[in-house]
Amino acid sequence: MGIATRRHLLGMGDLDPADVERILETAAGFEDVVERDVKKVPTLRGRTVVNLFYESSTRTSSSFELAAKRLSADTVSVKAAGSSVDKGESLKDTIRTLNAYRPNIIVIRHPHIGAAQLTARWSDAHVVNAGDGKHQHPTQCLLDLYAIRKRLGRLRDVKVAIVGDVLHSRVARSNIEGFRMMGLDVTLVGPPALIPPGIEATGARVADDPAAMAEADVVYVLRMQHERMEPGQNFVPTLREYARVWGVSGRRLRPGQIVMHPGPMNRGVEIAPDVADSGASLVEHQVEAGLVVRMAVLYDLMTRPTIGEVIDLRERTGEWGAA
Ligand code: CP
Repeated sequence: MGIATRRHLLGMGDLDPADVERILETAAGFEDVVERDVKKVPTLRGRTVVNLFYESSTRTSSSFELAAKRLSADTVSVKAAGSSVDKGESLKDTIRTLNAYRPNIIVIRHPHIGAAQLTARWSDAHVVNAGDGKHQHPTQCLLDLYAIRKRLGRLRDVKVAIVGDVLHSRVARSNIEGFRMMGLDVTLVGPPALIPPGIEATGARVADDPAAMAEADVVYVLRMQHERMEPGQNFVPTLREYARVWGVSGRRLRPGQIVMHPGPMNRGVEIAPDVADSGASLVEHQVEAGLVVRMAVLYDLMTRPTIGEVIDLRERTGEWGAA
C-alpha cells in the first residue's frame, strides 16, 4: 500500500457519521470472533502493526495489541521506557527506525499534542492516535459510543453528563466531538476551573452544579489528570473536597442511569467504589468494547471501504474460517 492511499485516525474530525456507523457495525461483527474457542481470523495475516507508547497505558495498549493478534497481524510493541528513547532518541528518529520494518499501521500514544500527526508525516504507515496530550483519543470515543448503543439500543438524543476534569482530558475532547456528531446531548459538569473557557462553541452545555447529573441517561466520569497539571497548580481546594462535591456516589444517581469511566479510576475521588462496582457501571463493558472496536479500526484502515458502506462482518464470518 503506497503513501497515496494512506488513511489515518488522528482525531474524531477524521470521521463523519457514516464512518462511525461503519466502524461500530464492523465491531459488532467481531463480537462473534472474540466469543469463539479459537479467537482469531486471518484478516490481517502478513500485515504488521506497531504499537508505540510514550505514556502509561493498560487498556489501550493491551487492546490494540490483542486486536491486531486476533486479526492475525504481526505486532511490535515498543514502550518509551526501556527503549532507546531513554538514550535520547528523538520521536522522528524512533519513527523512521520503526518505519524501516515497513509496518502497515502505527498506533501511537504520546504526551505531546500533535505527535500522531507528526508520525503520519514521518512514516509510510496508517497512523492511529492512541492519545496525544490533552488533545484527542478517538478510539476511546468510538468504544464509548459502541458501549452506549449496546446498553441503551440507541445513540440519538441520549443525554450524557461528562463530569470532572474536562480541561485536561483528551477523552472529553474526542467524546464531545464524537457524541455531538452522533446526535447525543452533552452537558459538561464540573468546577469552573476544570471546564475550558468557550467550550460551549462545541454545542455542549456547561453546568457548574453537580445536581445537573440527575438529568443524564449516562454519567461519564473523568479522572483528575494530575500528569497534565503544572507542579503546584491547584484546580480544586483538596481531593477530599472534590470527592465530596463532585464525586459520583450512589446518592447522586437515580435508578436507570448508567455510569461510564474511561479508566483508570481513582476510587474514592471522582467515583465512589459502590458505584464503580454496581450494576449501573459500564466500565468493564467499555473495556470489552475496546477490543472489538480497535479490531474494527485496524480492519477499516487496511480495507478502506467506500465511505458510507456498512459491512456486516457477521455475514462474512464463514469466509474467514479460523486462522
Ligand atoms: N482509557 C484509557 O486510555 O486507558 P489506558 O490509559 O489504560 O490506556
